[in-house]
Amino acid sequence: MPAKILVVDDDPNVQRLLQYTLKQEGYDVVVAADGAEGFRLWGAEAPNLILLDVMLPTLDGYQVATKIRAEEAPNTHVPIIMLTAEREVEQKVRGLRAGADDYLIKPFHPAELLARIKSLLARFAPRETLLARPPLGRILAFYPAKGGVGSTTIAINAAIALHRELGRKVCLVDGNLQFGDHRVFLDLGLDRKSIVDVVSAPAIDPDLIKSVLVKHDSGIDLLLAPPSPETAELVRPEHLPQIAEMLRAMYDYVLIDVDKRLDDVNLGVFEAAEIVFVVMTADLSCLKNVRLILETMHHLGYPAAKVQLVLNRSNAFTGISVKNAEGALRRTIDHQVVNEYRGAISALNSGAPFMFTKADSALGGSLLQFARTVDKPAATVAALVPAR
Ligand SMILES: Nc1ncnc2c1ncn2[C@@H]1O[C@H](COP(=O)(O)OP(=O)(O)O)[C@@H](O)[C@H]1O
Ligand SMILES: [Mg+2]
Repeated sequence: MPAKILVVDDDPNVQRLLQYTLKQEGYDVVVAADGAEGFRLWGAEAPNLILLDVMLPTLDGYQVATKIRAEEAPNTHVPIIMLTAEREVEQKVRGLRAGADDYLIKPFHPAELLARIKSLLARFAPRETLLARPPLGRILAFYPAKGGVGSTTIAINAAIALHRELGRKVCLVDGNLQFGDHRVFLDLGLDRKSIVDVVSAPAIDPDLIKSVLVKHDSGIDLLLAPPSPETAELVRPEHLPQIAEMLRAMYDYVLIDVDKRLDDVNLGVFEAAEIVFVVMTADLSCLKNVRLILETMHHLGYPAAKVQLVLNRSNAFTGISVKNAEGALRRTIDHQVVNEYRGAISALNSGAPFMFTKADSALGGSLLQFARTVDKPAATVAALVPAR
């Protein structure tokens, strides 16, 4: 397995340059643009080495190094190289005292950087890539009450928020087998492996699944939908639950984005899920569908808390208020996501999810709030049990 390097630098040019240089050498690269994010990604990604800029927003490089050293599990040590623009000797001393193993003064030659990385990786035995705590293993399904309500948008951006903002290990599954959209939303080609490569193997096991997952730049892992509607038939109803069960042993969250059919494939996903998020907008046909869906879930014997309603574009004018919708459904709406058509559509068109590139937008904030609420029970439990 290639060594994974976490780059923490706020300068997009440096990010690009380092990413290019390191990938050329065969390393896996994860990028954080500020100190707090770097610290979170250290927890979520368990990198083999960190390149840490000194001048950073939120937490500076010294603070990040100090925090990491304070929280590292006994007998583990992630090598850290500080990247500094300052030539003063005091700075160097401060960096090394904060817990860095080496430092480089910018600008540096790529060959010099690579040599330092190699020697540090050799000096420190590779850290076990598993986190000290077992994965949370929560399976979440996202189900649109009708087409186009924003279920895929919410699943993808919630996955990224859970990983980047809350430090969880996340796998996102495109369960819309015939017309999966994740390749479009995430700008990935048809040549990438998909669930078809899993189900057409003689036996399904975790290693096979791992080899088919696609790593997104945001740090989440993806299991893509079949590349064409014909090949979707190869996925049988028992496959998704079986795969989800194996994934939950490896991830904190497995998010499955499904299409609007109530067929055996989707029922299998609902069965496997801890929570089914029914995504809706405030219009009459959606309300009618949500009523039917809630009735069906009730007949299937699912506990009330298993099905949660997500009202998307909640502040868009539809003539039906949240109160009216709740009255018609005779239950409360559990989550709301704001309307921001431009933000959503430009993210879709550029293949860069807003939670990745514009997390501080109104839409990003709304999705983060959703992710926090979903993660809350897990976060409370984690606070009681020391994580590492
Ligand atoms: N909160 C939102 N505000 C504005 N537009 C949105 C929002 N969520 C989704 N959209 C837009 O709605 C359209 C359908 O979204 P999509 O996620 O593909 O829906 P679904 O998966 O339910 O079919 C897309 O053009 C998307 O950009
Ligand atoms: Mg969809």
